[in-house]
Amino acid sequence: MKHLISIYDLTTDEIEQIFRLSEKLKYQLKNGIEHHLLKGKVLGMIFTKSSTRTRVSFETGMYQLGGYALFLSSNDIQLGRGETIQDTAMVLSRYIDGIMIRTFSQQDVEDLARYGSIPVINGLTDLMHPCQILADLFTVYEYKKTLKGLKLAYVGDGNNVANSLLHGCAKVGMDIAVASPKGFECDERIVEEAKSDARKSGSKITLTEDPEEATYNADVVYTDTWVSMGQEAEKEERIKIFKPYQVNRELFSKAKSDAIFLHCLPAYRGFEVTSDVIDGPQSAVFDEAENRLHVQKAIMAILMG
Ligand code: CP
Ligand code: NVA
Repeated sequence: MKHLISIYDLTTDEIEQIFRLSEKLKYQLKNGIEHHLLKGKVLGMIFTKSSTRTRVSFETGMYQLGGYALFLSSNDIQLGRGETIQDTAMVLSRYIDGIMIRTFSQQDVEDLARYGSIPVINGLTDLMHPCQILADLFTVYEYKKTLKGLKLAYVGDGNNVANSLLHGCAKVGMDIAVASPKGFECDERIVEEAKSDARKSGSKITLTEDPEEATYNADVVYTDTWVSMGQEAEKEERIKIFKPYQVNRELFSKAKSDAIFLHCLPAYRGFEVTSDVIDGPQSAVFDEAENRLHVQKAIMAILMG
């Protein structure tokens, strides 16, 4: 593992290694055991989009590992004024030990990795959100003690989160059913990649327009905002189109009786999910958010240690 750009690039062994270390680091943190695996190391965090969880969990995680994190907003660094990704990658590689980037274009993340000589971590693009999905799968594992053979239902926009869920579930042998309206399906290339991994892991991929079909008998029900960062101008139209895709108590009841609810957050109550579901007893969204910290610490320790 040299970078974390897409879950598709990882082997199942690498995912297992991330989860084992996440578990250990979580235990060490909770029990006050020092774990300075990245003493003196510096992570640069480039953001061209907003963030609460990603920024705070990476920054705190780096601190807990004995290192330091630099918040590099595109409003402040020269990248935002037209300096190339290539030059940015070459320069940052002379100063720091790793880069986490949240931005629009997946190509920019790949170019950073290509031109730089330090590990690059994808902190979300329009296409993918791999760190989120690794934390999600770790959360499912904590709740269900297994991943293989479980069914995850994703209901809503076929966006970055849905794309990485396809990658992740196919990799670890979980069945995944994605329900999204026509015109808002997952990325075609990612669907093909997931299908090829699903053939190896034995997981089943279902793509449908019907939220009930997707949710039926699921162990995990997942949704995300209908309006991702960068789509603000389409908000009104999207809210109309996605209305039948709301995860409410009625839809959630189609899942298994012990199903858990996940959402990458930020959530918009009353739109993609109702309060009774996200604030209800089967919601695991805050454990999920917490696990971003532990899983990303494991990723950084593996890549930068
Ligand atoms: N889930 C997630 O990535 O949240 P932020 O946008 O707050 O980082
Ligand atoms: N799909 C959302 C995820 C936010 C963490 C977005 O891209 O805005």
